[in-house]
Amino acid sequence: MADFVPAAGKPWLLPLYDPLSRLAGAGRLHERLLEQAGLRAGQRVLEIGCGTGNLLAAQARRGPRVVAVGIDPDPAALRRARRKAGRAGAVIEFRQAYAGDLPFAGGGFDVVLSSLMLHHLDEAGRDRALREVVRVLRPGGRLHVADLDGHGRWGALAPGAFTGAGLVEVAVTGRGRAWRFGGYSLFTAAAPA
Ligand SMILES: C[S@@+](CC[C@H](N)C(=O)[O-])C[C@H]1O[C@@H](n2cnc3c(N)ncnc32)[C@H](O)[C@@H]1O
Repeated sequence: MADFVPAAGKPWLLPLYDPLSRLAGAGRLHERLLEQAGLRAGQRVLEIGCGTGNLLAAQARRGPRVVAVGIDPDPAALRRARRKAGRAGAVIEFRQAYAGDLPFAGGGFDVVLSSLMLHHLDEAGRDRALREVVRVLRPGGRLHVADLDGHGRWGALAPGAFTGAGLVEVAVTGRGRAWRFGGYSLFTAAAPA
């Protein structure tokens, strides 16, 4: 049995993840997160829990051209992400990894993105993941998160989860509702300078 909660809850539901998440309103949520991130050309950008790669594919479509890396523990989701990026001609590196144990040296990313992923983790896993974000971000680098309200195993995501892991300048930057998802929130935070 997998030691992570896959994108659609059960491994055999993965083929339905893209159509269902599109129907549920993930596209708008991704656009809002990318607007917030305000990425600049050449930045090194990591998405933790990239799943089938929809956020990074949307980033590649809208530009600017960044150095994009996505990690996820699910090899089946990563295969879909690679196929999708290949078809779109987007250069995105996808690697199998857990957010709580990132295979990267410290300080190598300007921006980390997390979309609809943190609610898959329990409280300890979420804390490990956020501490890893602090480690791999350059000093002053930024984290941008979109996640569901009240779906986490630990309840709604709150700013304290970010500060507790060592992030600074934590803010709730927006809230939205998506059909089927219910409410979601957008957050930003930074690694200490
Ligand atoms: C709902 S999907 C979101 C995928 C994508 N970010 C999006 O916005 O469409 C959540 C993803 O988190 C991944 N995940 C679960 N546990 C994880 C962990 N410990 N580290 C990294 N990713 C994880 C799942 O495999 C799944 O692909």
